[in-house]
Amino acid sequence: MRKTIIVSNRLPVKISEANGDYTLTPSEGGLATGLGSIYREGNNIWVGWPGQEITDQKEQEKVTKQLRKMNLVPVYLTQDEINNFYEGFSNETLWPVFHYMSVYAHYEQHYWDAYFQVNKKFRDIILKIAEPGDIIWIHDYQLLLLPGMIRAELPEISIGFFQHIPFPSFELFRLIPWRAEILEGMLGADLMGFHTFDDTRHFLDAVGRILPVNTSANIVSYNDRAIVVETFPMGIDFDKYATLGNYPEVQEQIRDLEQNFDKNQLILSIDRLDYSKGILQRLQAFELLLQLHPEYIGSAVLYMIVVPSRDTVPQYKELRDEIDKYVGNINARFRTLTWHPVQYFYRAFPLETLSALYNFAGICLVTPMRDGMNLVSKEYVASRNNNDGVLILSEMAGASKELIDAIIVNPNNIGAITRAIVDALDMPLAEQQRRMKQMRTVVAKFNVHHWVKLFMTRLQEVNEMQQNMLAR
Ligand code: G6P
Repeated sequence: MRKTIIVSNRLPVKISEANGDYTLTPSEGGLATGLGSIYREGNNIWVGWPGQEITDQKEQEKVTKQLRKMNLVPVYLTQDEINNFYEGFSNETLWPVFHYMSVYAHYEQHYWDAYFQVNKKFRDIILKIAEPGDIIWIHDYQLLLLPGMIRAELPEISIGFFQHIPFPSFELFRLIPWRAEILEGMLGADLMGFHTFDDTRHFLDAVGRILPVNTSANIVSYNDRAIVVETFPMGIDFDKYATLGNYPEVQEQIRDLEQNFDKNQLILSIDRLDYSKGILQRLQAFELLLQLHPEYIGSAVLYMIVVPSRDTVPQYKELRDEIDKYVGNINARFRTLTWHPVQYFYRAFPLETLSALYNFAGICLVTPMRDGMNLVSKEYVASRNNNDGVLILSEMAGASKELIDAIIVNPNNIGAITRAIVDALDMPLAEQQRRMKQMRTVVAKFNVHHWVKLFMTRLQEVNEMQQNMLAR
């Protein structure tokens, strides 16, 4: 029977170990939710790294067995591979360049070698599982070479690729010493998807300028194959966020928040620790608000959650220290006996707590310097069942192309973010509702299930088109 193989760097599961026993908890991430209906069915599977270093062969076999019951197939990485493939090439080379922060990029031959080897490791595991007629859907920048590596072995198989982070303009992309190899790897796919038209356009531009290929509209002709490149903005599970607010445990947490804060003056900020998220700039804008508008001293609160991430990569460690320092400065300078301007948390929270915050906070401040899509902005909108609340959103986030009723800001313009906060604090309820209703319609309709269906249907159409071309 034809099966679908999902591939991403991380498996949609969290593994914790205690006294030699491993507990597997399915993750709640957007991709895991969206693809849940696919990989859990029949003999479909998801291939990826379990996110933990397990070196002992026996331990690996034990975990592999547990994972198989959940339709998951692990790719174990050694510490060396974690250092050079994951932290190195993925997060110190590709991540900064693709997020337009090329000054942070390191171009190391041994990072590239590890990236190539680990993509091959994924390929070898997939080759053991894949059969003619299967569909393979590969995700994200950690696996850019994988489509080409699989294509070389299985010329007929159907391969989709989706990139969750931006694709930079040619001028940035060309900086990477292995740029041609990367594009050749990506072109192993039949269908290539990006979040925005700009990413799609940048990819087509880079392909046309770096490789000796023909591109016509959104089709690349390469090695006698036609590769279709299209835009598929990813959505979230709208119903999940819209209904979570009614759960008793969420209601209880909302009541706790009500006792401590004024919802109209609570500005919510939630991110993974990352320099692409504009966290320091957001703190600057909030500080400026307190300087220029002392009337908010004692009332406005920035509720800032930063979820630990990649903290073994040097730039992330530095950023964490800078945030600690900045938050400390603002609080020391402005706090009163009864009021803390920045409520800062460096840890992950359960979904119920995030839902309580999304439901409660009158303002959500999402100002990344660059972001492929940004799902926090959509989760906030989906949670606002009363249609009130204001979203301030960076024009550099993919989501800004859809959520045009947010207050849109340039994240480099600190003064503009401060003004947006003032506008949000002053916004009449009727205007909040008019904007929020429009955004909710968009987030409800173009949800994650719609996204999966659209991509899978298109992949099938592309394969039919290719078979027709071969038959002619
Ligand atoms: C972004 C990337 C994902 C990645 C996630 C978490 O959303 O697009 O591919 O999994 O960040 O980062 P991590 O390095 O912890 O997997």
